[in-house]
Amino acid sequence: MDFLISYKNYFDKKLSYFIENINFNKDIKDSLSYSLKNGGKRLRPWIISEISNILKIDDFDSVEKLCFSVEILHTTSLIHDDMPEIDNATLRRGKKANHLVFGDYLSLLSGDYGFVLPLKIVSDLKIIDLSIKNQIFSLFSKSTLTLIEGETEDVLFEKLGKTPSKEEIINMYRKKTGELFGLSFALPFILSSKKHVDQYFEAGVDFGIAFQIYDDLKDIHSTKEELGKDINADKNKSTIIKLLGREKSKIYADSLFEKIGNLFIENNLKSFYEKLSNIKSYIEKK
Ligand code: IPE
Ligand code: IPE
Ligand code: MG
Ligand code: MG
Ligand code: MG
Repeated sequence: MDFLISYKNYFDKKLSYFIENINFNKDIKDSLSYSLKNGGKRLRPWIISEISNILKIDDFDSVEKLCFSVEILHTTSLIHDDMPEIDNATLRRGKKANHLVFGDYLSLLSGDYGFVLPLKIVSDLKIIDLSIKNQIFSLFSKSTLTLIEGETEDVLFEKLGKTPSKEEIINMYRKKTGELFGLSFALPFILSSKKHVDQYFEAGVDFGIAFQIYDDLKDIHSTKEELGKDINADKNKSTIIKLLGREKSKIYADSLFEKIGNLFIENNLKSFYEKLSNIKSYIEKK
């Protein structure tokens, strides 16, 4: 997993510098920076960066800013996810949850800011081909909305005490987690005007659904120290584990992961899939 750790070290510095140099309200910046700094596996930006390298995209500035944008969006979704009204979490990325440091009001507002800031960064990209730029902006904003819809479904299943079917749970995972991975897989293909955008988007969604199932499994069998976040947080939630049990859930997640393999092998992205397999084993265990 050295490749992901060295990418994370590189990315963390770049993201800090980028955020420091944007001029905006200090209280919002402090709250957002707290959650953005040094935390997280940086999996989504790694995916964008790795596929962009393989596709030999030379617009490094756009690739980097898309990496920042996706990570800001993801981190923001976690700030709101941890709030008392949603998951009421105390620990995130090994540190106190944002709302416990900055208060619910600032977590709410810096979260609002963090949902819109990526769209501003994307709209300022210096991409000459306007049809490509429009396609990126359109997908990015659609993914932002879809993530919020997925999170809403997740919260409402819990708060309204619903017992959703397998299809309803998978569809909620597709939106709250799959969509952002779909976006991360698709962005480099759009940027390089390559075909297969929709296919890779869907593969990313499937990876994201599997990723959410591994996350649900870890909520049950990992420790707080290993995860850097609260465990047993899903006890009142509708998860696929509750419906299918641990063994069948893992088999289902693994089958999604295997399904996407062919696409990468067919299109000379075998080395990427191999790295993704290493990541899968790593996130599964942790
Ligand atoms: C956590 O995502 C939220 C889920 C989608 C399950 P990650 O596991 O990628 O969190 P970080 O970015 O590494 O903290
Ligand atoms: C969160 O799912 C996914 C989001 C889109 C925010 P979880 O609630 O399972 O994520 P963790 O376990 O808190 O990281
Ligand atoms: Mg949640
Ligand atoms: Mg949560
Ligand atoms: Mg979880």
